Parts: sequence; structure tokens; C-alpha cells
Amino acid sequence: MRTFPPYRSQVVAEIPVTTRAEREQALAAAGYNAFNLPANKVSIDLLTDSGTGAVSTAQEAAAAAADRSYAGSDSFYRFRDALRELTGYPHLLPVHQGRAAERVLFSSVLESGRISVSNTHFDTTRANVELLGAEAIDLPCAEFGDLDSLEPFKGNIDLDALERLLTGPEGPRVGQVLLTITNNGGGGQPVSMANLAAAAKLARTHGVPVFLDAARFAENAWLVIQREPGYADKTPREVAREAFGLVDGCVASLKKDGISPMGAFIGLTDPELAQTCETNLIATEGFRTYGGLAAHDLDRVAKGLQEVVDPHYLAARAGEAARLAKQANEAGVDIVQPPGIHALYLNAGRLLPHLSASRFPGHSLACELYLAGGIRCVELGSLYLGTLDEQNELITPAPFELVRMALPRRVYSQGHYDYVAEILGDIAKNPERVPGYRIVEAPKILRHFNLRMAPV
Ligand code: F0G
Repeated sequence: MRTFPPYRSQVVAEIPVTTRAEREQALAAAGYNAFNLPANKVSIDLLTDSGTGAVSTAQEAAAAAADRSYAGSDSFYRFRDALRELTGYPHLLPVHQGRAAERVLFSSVLESGRISVSNTHFDTTRANVELLGAEAIDLPCAEFGDLDSLEPFKGNIDLDALERLLTGPEGPRVGQVLLTITNNGGGGQPVSMANLAAAAKLARTHGVPVFLDAARFAENAWLVIQREPGYADKTPREVAREAFGLVDGCVASLKKDGISPMGAFIGLTDPELAQTCETNLIATEGFRTYGGLAAHDLDRVAKGLQEVVDPHYLAARAGEAARLAKQANEAGVDIVQPPGIHALYLNAGRLLPHLSASRFPGHSLACELYLAGGIRCVELGSLYLGTLDEQNELITPAPFELVRMALPRRVYSQGHYDYVAEILGDIAKNPERVPGYRIVEAPKILRHFNLRMAPV
């Protein structure tokens, strides 16, 4: 299909333009941690695709007409109807963001000593499991271990390992199976429908509920249509509906494929579980018809969910990611293959072989992208996943040293991505000039948000 992005800019926001000297100063003041940078010192912000998408005129018109009634607002019914049409779930609860949905659902399903098993838990998802005293086990498929392989569904869960766990001595401890689509912690790779169906069947056979973490349900559906036999003629909405129908429910941040600045939902088939979640929601998030969300965001989501399943939109977005992936490769920077949609994962370990894991090559590349081009992105390597000793020296490195460049929805155009590729090319010409980093200060929990670093 030949296509183009089915939208145009109608209102634009100015991008800060900075000098290298200003960026050096800003990054040093931030303790070499991109999360500490003020956004007005960032030119191209690829830190996340969450809550950063551009809203449409239709979303803003709906938001302006939102109904702020505490109970039973029109905005809630539009939100609920959009989700019911999409998912088919009878029980739908609004929540302010994905991690709150996780907390509400998991505290109704898990308890201390139980296990949550996933293709890969996202970081807040893992934290919400562990905060309950439960254990989060990731079982990514073996294909993910080869970053260069072109296997189409490297986001799959390892079905053999799942079966071994469920039938083994730890089996009775498993409280839920959670399938993250697409697999954000695993290179943004998609999960096939066959894998979802098989994992759901296994879980059911053992009486274990199975849920989706469906933050990027539309992008997963698009990649299924492109890559999985038997799906080429289906619409993204049909594929998404089928995925939701395979499992017992979901949690989903709507800051990604809801194209909303804020929002999430819990969708469930079981009325009793829905009742438990609703009680928790009312006590901690808000009444069941707003769940901590402002009415204008309920309406932005209701419209965003229509827009996100447009095949023209998804084709254009996937094309944007694929083109940037090709440009990065041509510039001499390898990425996790095949490219997904919401982000590209740069193989920093391979680009910077002069830096050992204990000098954090992923973090070094992320810092260099900022210093050279004002581009902000985030490390997914030993800094994030490795184990440290008391002196903050690395003991166990992560399996890979990656940098995630997330692509906000409908925000940047080809000109911006050409610039990103040029900066990558400049760095790749003299990679040995990129310095390593050491940890100056690191908190014990969620350390990547708060640590301070220094170049060595
Ligand atoms: N699950 C996945 C797969 C996610 O990617 C995120 C957030 C969440 C849950 C939590 O949702 O932010 O609405 O509370 N991911 C963002 C990111 C922050 O940058 O990947 P949230």
C-alpha cells in the first residue's frame, strides 16, 4: 500500500535550539542523567512515546465539550463505548495511567509469595508485582537473544519455559500470566496471535488467569497483519479484538495507543474480579465513571482509539520507524532487528566496543546523542538492568547494551528524523571518542530515574 501520514500540522510548538556549550552545561548539571534535564534544553525528545503524541482537532473538539459530572458523565459513556467496541470486555474501568491499572488489578489477583510470569514485565509493572511481595518472572523467547535475526515475533513468550514453570514445583505459585504487546522491555518486538493463543491455553489449563498489558495493542495488530500468515486481509481493529478475546482481561496505558496525554483502563470478563477492582479503584483512584481521569481525557481517549486503528496512520507510522532504522544502519549504527514501531533500540555495545559494560556504553551513547544533537533518549543496558555492589560497581552486566529511541506519535516529521540519522552518523564516524561513565550516586530502587553519573 502506498500511503502518507493521514494528518497535517495545524498548530505547532517551538523546538528549543541550543549550543553544544549549553548542552554540556545542562547535562553536567543534570548529573549526566537525561531524566534530570529540563525539557527546554532538549531539541528532539525521544525519551518516550508515552503521553507525548500530538492530539487531533477531533480530540480537542471532543475534549472541549467534555462532561465533568462526577457520576455517569457523557464522557465516561463515550470512553466506555469506544473500549467496549474495541475489546468486547463487559467490565471496563478508567484509571489515570497504566501503572495505576497494574496496582489495582495485581492487588486483586496476586499476593505475597505468588508469581507473575510474562514475556517481559515493563519496569513499573515489575515494581507493582514486587511491591505486593510477589515475584516477577520474565520468559522471553529464545529468538530475542539474537539482536540481528529477522525473526518476525521476537516479543513472544517462551512457551516451553512457560509450560515447565506451570507444571513444575513452582506451578501452584503462579498467580497470573501477563503478555505485553508489543514487548517494550524486549526491543519493542511484537507477539504473534499464535503465541498469545497458545500461552492463554496453557494458562487456562492450569487455572491461571491470563491478561494483556495492551499499551501498544494497535501497533502489535499492525505487525501481526504484516508478518503473521493468515492475517494480511484483516483490519487492525479486527486483529486487536481477536487478541483481547483470547485472554481474561487487560491493563492498558492509553498514553501510547490511546494517543492521549493521560489515561489507562482495566478490561475484564470476570464480574467478581471486576467488582474487587472497582472497590479498590473507588478507594484509591476515583469513582468508577472517571477513575482519576479528567473528563477531557476520557473524551480524548474515546476519539484517539478510533484514530489509532486507521490502517493509513499505522502504515505511515511503521514506515517512519522502518526508514529511520535503515538510515541508522546506513550511518553505521546497528539496531535490534527487525524494527518495531514505537521505538528503535540501538546496539550501543557493538558501536562502542572500547567501553566495557562497567563503563555503560548505552548510557554513553545516549549522552553523546544529547551532547552532539540535543537528542534525548534512554539507556536500556547495564545501568538499568545490571546488578551493582555496595560501591555502585557493576557485578552482573545486562545481556545487551541498548539505547531506546522512542518515537512520539504524530509529532516529528521526516526532517527531524533525517537530523537524528545525521547525528548518529557523526557519532559513528569516531565512536572511540565517546567517553565511558561511572556512577556517582545511585538509589536502591528505580535507580535509573535518580542516579548521578560522571564521564571517565
Ligand atoms: N506497560 C508498558 C508496556 C509500558 O510501556 C508502560 C509505560 C506502562 C505499562 C506503564 O504505563 O506510563 O501509563 O503508567 N511506558 C512508558 C515508556 C513510560 O516510556 O515506555 P503508564
